[in-house]
Amino acid sequence: MIAPTSHENHRQFELPGRITVLEGNGELPKLELTTDWSTAEIYLQGAHITDFQKRGEEPLLFTSRCSRFLAGQPIRGGVPVIFPWFGSREGEPAHGFARLAAWRLQEATAIPEGGVSLRFSLPEAPARATWPEFSANYIITVTDRLAIELIITNLSPGQPLIFENCLHTYFNVGDINATTIRGLQGVGYLDKTQQFAQKTEANEAIRITEETDRIYLNTTTAVEIVDEKLRRRIQVNKRGSASTVVWNPWSAKAQAMPDFCNEDYLTMVCVESGNVAENKLSLPPGRSAVLQVEYSSTAL
Ligand code: BG6
Repeated sequence: MIAPTSHENHRQFELPGRITVLEGNGELPKLELTTDWSTAEIYLQGAHITDFQKRGEEPLLFTSRCSRFLAGQPIRGGVPVIFPWFGSREGEPAHGFARLAAWRLQEATAIPEGGVSLRFSLPEAPARATWPEFSANYIITVTDRLAIELIITNLSPGQPLIFENCLHTYFNVGDINATTIRGLQGVGYLDKTQQFAQKTEANEAIRITEETDRIYLNTTTAVEIVDEKLRRRIQVNKRGSASTVVWNPWSAKAQAMPDFCNEDYLTMVCVESGNVAENKLSLPPGRSAVLQVEYSSTAL
């Protein structure tokens, strides 16, 4: 019998020249996508995008070569889907159960302009038992950019669905010391490296020079990552998101993380879009919340 998460179960979604289904690292099923402009790689576990690369460019996403690829363990890098809570929670997995679940691929479409679009849904699971009934759909569209939508619908008849969501994206940068993050000046944030101290961003161009773990609140604007080494500007456009999280573990924490190589902190930064902490969402019965992000890049 073929296990429900085997790549063989997804062969029906293959599209010649566009989508290939194969066994990835750790024997986990993954999809390889090819478009007129780019390639991408997505694991069914977590509906986790681990690679997106435009032809002739360095990868846009960072995935650690020290990552584990184990059923039920988070993948380190790419785009982890954080839902229904962000951060740690006693007795529960950090950052929620969505990134650990085997998502179900529901549709795979070649779009006429030369791209590919996939829709996944989060299956029923014991971890959902204590939550009001909901559906979670995840749409990934790959063209010359990477566009993602996470759609949560409250299906319960009489209870609000209160949750956090976040696309915890790891970006590949040439050198963290030659990288700035722009678009957050004047925004209030919680500094997780200092017991959630409340601060206000003073810099137009943020440089990362130490462990950085910040939840920027009440900010809906686009963010840019300016990478002097790769001579590239990455745009993070978002809708339905009031929080931006910026994270780099820096050297000591990198060494303490078993699934992250010691030097990885030099070539990555997480710029995460979602609704976390006081921006958590309360969805009335029958309503949906849509979190949309679009990642694109241009030469400097
Ligand atoms: C960030 C959090 O979003 O994710 C950090 O703000 C956390 O506090 C980081 O360390 C990584 O989390 P995890 O669970 O993937 O190791």
